[in-house]
Amino acid sequence: MIIPVIMAGGNGTRMWPLSRSMYPKQFLSLVSDTETMLQNTLLRLTGVKTAAPMLICNEEHRFIAAEQIRALGMDNSGIILEPFGRNTAPAIALAAIQAQIIDDNANLLILAADHVIQDTAAFTQAIAEAKQVSENGGVATFGIVPSAPETGYGYIHAGSKQAQGYSVQQFVEKPDLATAESYVASGNYYWNSGMFMVKASRYLELLSKYQPEMLTACQASIANPKLDFDFIRLNNEAFAACPDESVDYAVMEPLSNNESGSISVIPLDAGWSDVGSWSSLWEVSDKDECGNVTHGDVIVKQANNNHIHSGYKLVSLLGVDDLVVIDTKDALLVAHKDNVQDVKEIVNQIKADG
Ligand code: GDD
Ligand code: MG
Repeated sequence: MIIPVIMAGGNGTRMWPLSRSMYPKQFLSLVSDTETMLQNTLLRLTGVKTAAPMLICNEEHRFIAAEQIRALGMDNSGIILEPFGRNTAPAIALAAIQAQIIDDNANLLILAADHVIQDTAAFTQAIAEAKQVSENGGVATFGIVPSAPETGYGYIHAGSKQAQGYSVQQFVEKPDLATAESYVASGNYYWNSGMFMVKASRYLELLSKYQPEMLTACQASIANPKLDFDFIRLNNEAFAACPDESVDYAVMEPLSNNESGSISVIPLDAGWSDVGSWSSLWEVSDKDECGNVTHGDVIVKQANNNHIHSGYKLVSLLGVDDLVVIDTKDALLVAHKDNVQDVKEIVNQIKADG
């Protein structure tokens, strides 16, 4: 059985001012006009035979998440609510513990709630291959051919061809720029897409080996969970004691250093993007003949390659290129596309100013 595990606890700061802490990007319709990113994540699985998905998110977003799942006619019970984020390794651990109650042989298909994947058929095929890896006790990663030396991604050094994908020689999370450049130049590395497939039992076994404290804290957090309507609440005190670490650092790196043979990479050529910034959203969006992406009431003249979102008023651009202009009710962002990684600095300042 495949159980989709949807990680939806991020705060999407780089997509400010549309993405807010009360309404982060996974719950917004950033790419499609009709579905949100979370809904697209769920709909993309229609061609895959799975059990009901498990969602893990912050308790503040419980009603938004439940409503978005319900609106698709899907089962929205059993959403795991975190009182605060402890990053992805514990989130997956909580899901793995719950999944084992449903099926102790479950394969977890671990997905982020805020990715774009344009070619669903290619993704479905990659999942079928990843399932074989998982069934055999391995950890499957989905690798993207890198287009730039991005330092915000994990890198996967592919080895020999296997029945499914390639063996993995090394997994390196967020290398520095010089290292990323050498990886991209070598041609042997994939970006880690941030999606994984592994048996719940195997994941918990890996945690007991590499992160025993995290495993103990997660087990204590979700033992006898408090049910609040259909939501699963944690023991906050136990979860507070849980180390804060991503699956990439907590599990994938040590696993690749000690037993790289148990990781495989399935190449994924499916128009993947993690929509990490306004410029990456621009890249995957439909454009007019001048390369502009426009949402809402927008007029553009003699302007190229801009990303424009009008929320409450007519927004017009004249004679400017490569800008991001995001208009919302209470905040306006005007930025050069080259600087959009630093939008989080604005958000930090807003928080600091209170
Ligand atoms: N439930 C829950 N709790 N979800 C979380 C938490 C948390 O504490 N923290 C993050 N998430 C969710 C986010 O909403 C997102 O969907 C996903 O987990 C990944 O988290 P990010 O914070 O976006 O990770 P990253 O971008 O730094 O790096 C990961 O993704 C890259 C590709 O997008 C890594 O896996 C990299 O190796 C990878 O290249
Ligand atoms: Mg990310």
